Amino acid sequence: MCEQTQKKKVLSCIQPSGIPTLGNYLGALKNWVNMQEEYDCTFAVADLHAITVRQEPAKLRQQIYSMYALFLALGLDPEKSTLFIQSQVPAHSQLAWILSCYTQFGELSRMTQFKDKSARHADNINAGLFAYPALMAADILLYQPDFVPVGHDQKQHLEITRDIATRFNNLYGDVFTVPEPLIGKGGARVMSLADPTKKMSKSDENPNGYISLLDTKEDIIRKFKRAVTDSDAKICVAEGKHGINNLIDIYSVVMGISADETVKKFEGCGYGEFKLSVGEAVADCLSPVRERYNEYISDKKKLEDLSKMGAEKAYYASRKTMSKVMKKVGFVL
Ligand code: TRP
Repeated sequence: MCEQTQKKKVLSCIQPSGIPTLGNYLGALKNWVNMQEEYDCTFAVADLHAITVRQEPAKLRQQIYSMYALFLALGLDPEKSTLFIQSQVPAHSQLAWILSCYTQFGELSRMTQFKDKSARHADNINAGLFAYPALMAADILLYQPDFVPVGHDQKQHLEITRDIATRFNNLYGDVFTVPEPLIGKGGARVMSLADPTKKMSKSDENPNGYISLLDTKEDIIRKFKRAVTDSDAKICVAEGKHGINNLIDIYSVVMGISADETVKKFEGCGYGEFKLSVGEAVADCLSPVRERYNEYISDKKKLEDLSKMGAEKAYYASRKTMSKVMKKVGFVL
């Protein structure tokens, strides 16, 4: 117990928007799993964020459970960490409203994700899409984390979270821990297998460009065999060799070795053989995840029980911050 209170706190969330890719895994989720020993971790399925764009209810429900099952399958441990579904903890919505009153129209207007998304969903530029960073700030600040692992695309949202926290603290005293970002620590930036100058993305219209965490072994190997490379047939890290650099990165991170070691290991090999080895390494790493996922997703009761337990833990942690905030603002408890 004593040891636990000394651990630094980490929090992160992911939207339930379909099965993540190998890029999400190597860039983020794999680190979450590893951080559980060193930190006191809180991880959530950010379903409140998902409704800023229109969702089909039955599909949303399925995707929420699917993400939670994937958390478990990847090795996030509900005993060690707090794993929950955001909408099951009311404090997120409550604090988001309060924080939105301490967030300026001007700063929200500058968010690049808002600009992108409002361009892509021009028929539904709702207030939630605009106020999204205040909800994300609430997700974070409720749990007083020291660190927030985020990708590059969320860096600006973490910056505004820090600004909101600092502003609030300046008005009311030390209410919130101002969290530090953990950006891409130890992870890889995985590129598309079909166009290695682009980031791997599940919204790629070419399914050969990305590996889904639930792809079968055959699919994974087939996609790696087709991976776009170059024509100089030399396995080394070099500028412009986007495809080969990407495969070297993927292999190294999956095997837990350095890029140099990977290059040495495949010295003199042909591209065909190398691609096959990378495919096999990835398939071996993901097969157990897929098997465990299939077990969890078919055990609805277990998912319900574990997510409720997680929500309860989160509820207790959030309540402390929430009462402090309410008192400071002048509400009656
Ligand atoms: N907005 C993040 C995304 O779209 C998900 C998210 C919601 C999040 N709340 C968070 C990430 C809190 C980190 C911390 O990827």
